[in-house]
Amino acid sequence: MSDTAQNTQASDAAILPTYARAPVAFERGEGSWLVATDGARYLDFGAGIAVCALGHSHPHMIAELTAQAQKLWHVSNLYHIPQAERLAKRLVETTFADYVFFTNSGVEAVEGAIKTARKYQAASGHPEKFRLITFDGAFHGRTLAGIAAGGNQKYIDGFGPKVDGFDQAPWGDLEAVKALIGPETAGVLVEPIQGEGGVRTPPAGFLRGLREICDQHGLVLVMDEVQSGVGRTGKLFAHEIYGVKPDIMAIAKGIGGGFPLGAFLATREAGKGMVVGSHGTTFGGNPLATACGNAVLDVVLAEGFLDEVQRKGLLLKQRLAQLQDAHPKVIAEIRGEGLFVGVRLRTPNADFAVAARDERMLVIPALDNTIRLLPPLTVSDAELDEAIARLDRACGVAEAKLAAEQKQ
Ligand SMILES: Cc1ncc(COP(=O)(O)O)c(C=O)c1O
Repeated sequence: MSDTAQNTQASDAAILPTYARAPVAFERGEGSWLVATDGARYLDFGAGIAVCALGHSHPHMIAELTAQAQKLWHVSNLYHIPQAERLAKRLVETTFADYVFFTNSGVEAVEGAIKTARKYQAASGHPEKFRLITFDGAFHGRTLAGIAAGGNQKYIDGFGPKVDGFDQAPWGDLEAVKALIGPETAGVLVEPIQGEGGVRTPPAGFLRGLREICDQHGLVLVMDEVQSGVGRTGKLFAHEIYGVKPDIMAIAKGIGGGFPLGAFLATREAGKGMVVGSHGTTFGGNPLATACGNAVLDVVLAEGFLDEVQRKGLLLKQRLAQLQDAHPKVIAEIRGEGLFVGVRLRTPNADFAVAARDERMLVIPALDNTIRLLPPLTVSDAELDEAIARLDRACGVAEAKLAAEQKQ
């Protein structure tokens, strides 16, 4: 173990040990690169798990953040916040939504979205309708409602009774969704592309089918775009790819570009139950956070930016397909949209992530034995080439390990 690794491990003794941390710490970021405390440069294809949409130290982010920091950080939602009002207006103008509520994290956005769906039914004369249909492989965050919605038993066990109100269907199975609808069903909660589930894209017609089912049964369609949103897929939001609009949507991660910021968005109708006093948060939408959100949108909404994400996403997938041809024993499948890419492996994904890190490249493991490639949306073609070269070497390591195991 290197000195850096030892120092890193020793120094986290006072942190609740809920993470299996890699033995590395970073002190600087530049675009798609992270510089470790020992000076090593890592190609960052994790971007803080799809958070650093504009990479690290983006000059426009720094300028807007520091300009705001010199004026005013925080007030309270007891007053008007012009930065938040501007960001909300821009989100409304570019999406299906009429209203935005700002939060500090993804799960808080999801929780607010769930509350809004339930309150819509109550305001429509159906307070008995509070259940949401969710899907296997889903991830909606780690509050008590978040883990109940996600349904992953590993996250639920030991935390007391599971929050009631979530019924899980197999991913992509519209008949199962119909079968789960009962008198207490309020809506459906779905990631248009599952992130932690392994960048699982929806089967053809799935999201459209959910929309139709919701319309037929008076249900609210809630989408969790915490990971897939804010340009990640080459569209501002992933649901646009499938031509299906939600009634309510949770976002976070990319919208703050690294500053903690989330939001839930709703149509006027879906948000009709949320009135003065229905919901609140101390920090949500403060001037500093929403200045960062506006800075992200300045770049992501600029002419041609999302087209470039689509082009680079295609390029990455083409290069990965070549890599798969070269390493069929390691790479099983490539999937995703834009720069939201999953590579399903035949060798253990956790080992592969370590091999990639040894090549000074960061990737993020996910379910279904995948690794996620989530580079900053500003990644260059040359950095995509560099990523392929590093992944190629990591595939070589995985092959060598496989060959050694087969010999035994
Ligand atoms: C789809 C989705 N929803 C919700 C969350 C929770 O977000 P946060 O960790 O900011 O609470 C995540 C985080 O990975 C996510 O990917």
